[in-house]
Amino acid sequence: MTKEPAIRVRGIEKSFKDLHVLRGVDFEVAAGSIFALLGSNGAGKTTLVRILSTLLKADAGTAAVNGFDVAGTPGGVRESISLTGQFAAVDEVLSGRENLVLIAKLRHLKNPGEIADDLLARFSLTDAGGRKASTYSGGMRRRLDIAMSLIGNPPIIFLDEPTTGLDPQARLEVWQTVKRLAETGTTVLLTTQTLDEAEQLADRIAILHKGTIIQNGTLAELKQLLPAATVEYVEKQPSLEDVFLALVGETGETGETGETGETGSARDRTDGVPAGKESR
Ligand SMILES: Nc1ncnc2c1ncn2[C@@H]1O[C@H](COP(=O)(O)OP(=O)(O)OP(=O)(O)O)[C@@H](O)[C@H]1O
Ligand SMILES: [Mg+2]
Repeated sequence: MTKEPAIRVRGIEKSFKDLHVLRGVDFEVAAGSIFALLGSNGAGKTTLVRILSTLLKADAGTAAVNGFDVAGTPGGVRESISLTGQFAAVDEVLSGRENLVLIAKLRHLKNPGEIADDLLARFSLTDAGGRKASTYSGGMRRRLDIAMSLIGNPPIIFLDEPTTGLDPQARLEVWQTVKRLAETGTTVLLTTQTLDEAEQLADRIAILHKGTIIQNGTLAELKQLLPAATVEYVEKQPSLEDVFLALVGETGETGETGETGETGSARDRTDGVPAGKESR
């Protein structure tokens, strides 16, 4: 592919006093793809997302987002992106619809009411739209948060741990939302601590560990990094998540219908990517 990547990161470094968090991070994200940045607590995922969204300056290296340099043309970057932070930025006092209308107005868009109604429908929040966001469940709040970040149709979105703290059903709902976004051409960079989230969603997965990207590839490529398989006969036990989802069913509290019939949870997920395995 000769197409310009949506995000290009070269040699990014960042320290907080003596703490050298990022030590030369390099990767690219193809336009229209979902890219997962996987790393444990404190690996520097949020720091990197803050640099890419121009909220924080890097000490060294360069990064371009939608062709705009984060240091040289931060305004261009900001117009190209939306950021959904690790902690939801929803106003609790306002209703879901009012939150959406507010952002559309702040962005000087025409027809804020229409935009809000359209997003409520897309995120299965129409029925809850008139209720205060403080009454929403964690999953609904997350969906509203993502919906808010889509106002103005940014081509690139950053999702910092979009499903941390959500129950398995709410996670599935957010995953479907993210997949649909990518299907409509939005580039998604998300951070996650969980292997199965990266496995479910991402076209490419990069593992951030001790300040650098130690592996970057498709799921199939990462799986090949495992030592050669030895044949073992084991009875496949369902995971607790499989059991939980089978017992509670898949319907969310919003009465959502649609593509949720297929759980995908019965998939064989016995092997993960080799997190923390250094090839050097
Ligand atoms: N403004 C700051 N000042 C000092 N230290 C910071 C600052 N921001 C982050 N750090 C430190 O940098 C390291 C990386 O933090 P960061 O928030 O990027 O990690 P993370 O990968 O997002 O972790 P988590 O999965 O817990 O969200 C941590 O040790 C954190 O304490
Ligand atoms: Mg973080």
